[in-house]
Amino acid sequence: MRSLAVRKYSKPSQYEVLDLPIPTLTNPDDVLIRVHAASIMTGDTLIAAGMGRFFEKAEFPLRIGLSGAGIITAVGTAVTTLAPGTAVYGAYFAHGLFPPPKPGFASDYAICPATFLMPKPAYLSFAEAAALGNGQAVTALQCVRRYFELTGQPAESTLEGKAVFVTGGLSNCGAMFVQVVRNVYGARRVVATVSTAKVPMVERLLGAGVVDQVVDYTTEDVVDAVGRGSVDLVLNSQRDMVGTFPLANPETGAVVSIASVPSAATIRKVMGTLNAPLLWLIVSLVNVVHCWYAWKLRGTNVKQDFVSGNMGDREALERAGEWIAAGKIKAVMTVVDINDIEAVKEKCEMVATGKGGLGTLVLCFV
Ligand SMILES: NC(=O)c1ccc[n+]([C@@H]2O[C@H](COP(=O)([O-])OP(=O)(O)OC[C@H]3O[C@@H](n4cnc5c(N)ncnc54)[C@H](OP(=O)(O)O)[C@@H]3O)[C@@H](O)[C@H]2O)c1
Repeated sequence: MRSLAVRKYSKPSQYEVLDLPIPTLTNPDDVLIRVHAASIMTGDTLIAAGMGRFFEKAEFPLRIGLSGAGIITAVGTAVTTLAPGTAVYGAYFAHGLFPPPKPGFASDYAICPATFLMPKPAYLSFAEAAALGNGQAVTALQCVRRYFELTGQPAESTLEGKAVFVTGGLSNCGAMFVQVVRNVYGARRVVATVSTAKVPMVERLLGAGVVDQVVDYTTEDVVDAVGRGSVDLVLNSQRDMVGTFPLANPETGAVVSIASVPSAATIRKVMGTLNAPLLWLIVSLVNVVHCWYAWKLRGTNVKQDFVSGNMGDREALERAGEWIAAGKIKAVMTVVDINDIEAVKEKCEMVATGKGGLGTLVLCFV
């Protein structure tokens, strides 16, 4: 079968489509999927580049891809919820990230535990399902729930009456966040940043009235354009979280980030198996960064936290699946044929560098 893979830890320029054996089911909870489309995210490029090298001895060739969509061809003996012939989509990563799972979704066939999969709504193409089901809807849900927790609101609250700021409104995560806060949670005001070329694409790709204000982060001062202290919830998917602090309402606002430095508690929950000295070192370093965050927020009541999306939360997965089935979120994606290896490498490089991509990168196998 064709498989996007690396022979050693590599950047996208060294990715190859290799001819590898079709994997066989050995775990009773797993299913074998004929993959039609796979999504490539930052995490995939990090794993291929060797993010897990301190935690395990990798087996090469390393097959790439944590998420995708396709048709089940075989199920393990313990699987009762899914059957061969069912079209499914999903993402296989959860807390206890190290060593990272390696379903190898960017292959003609992939193995995934049934509990990480949802039936594909018939109205979605496989490419759309791969884009929507790559975990970012669940992450968006978990980010909004964390905001409710941080600000003392009930878990089933809405965002009605609230202003939300989203970085990278046409990025893989940002496009999802914008739609979830508006179309699901009913935010009153949604502001999103994009780079210059994407400004005219926002309404076309996300729908009319989804974003109230588009800010070109490359030419405008974001705080001036949005308004200091005018936002209830900042949803940050860029490394610079501190730069977004002034946007949050100083009394009631919160900044929830997926790309900042996690707290020590989150590190302990997320990382999985780590040797004690390495964990101690990481926790010490993140505590220093968190002192800096606290200093930057001094004199305000703004709350902040990092959220790590967890596909192991089946309730959240099913809730996000309902939004997708109801058409509340649409796919914003860049689609590339797996046979066009130069285009695959070029678009994966954009994912790895976090520059130039549009929506979710999807590789088509069928
Ligand atoms: N914690 C979690 O659970 C979780 C989950 C998924 C991803 N992440 C992390 O979140 C980050 C984003 O992931 P992603 O999947 O959304 O990546 P992505 O789609 O590749 O996002 C990068 C996009 O953001 C835009 N961008 C770059 N700099 C920006 C800035 N300063 N302000 C606004 N937009 C900017 C770029 O568009 P332009 O080139 O047009 O500017 C680029 O296409 C990554 O660091 C990833 O590791 C975390």
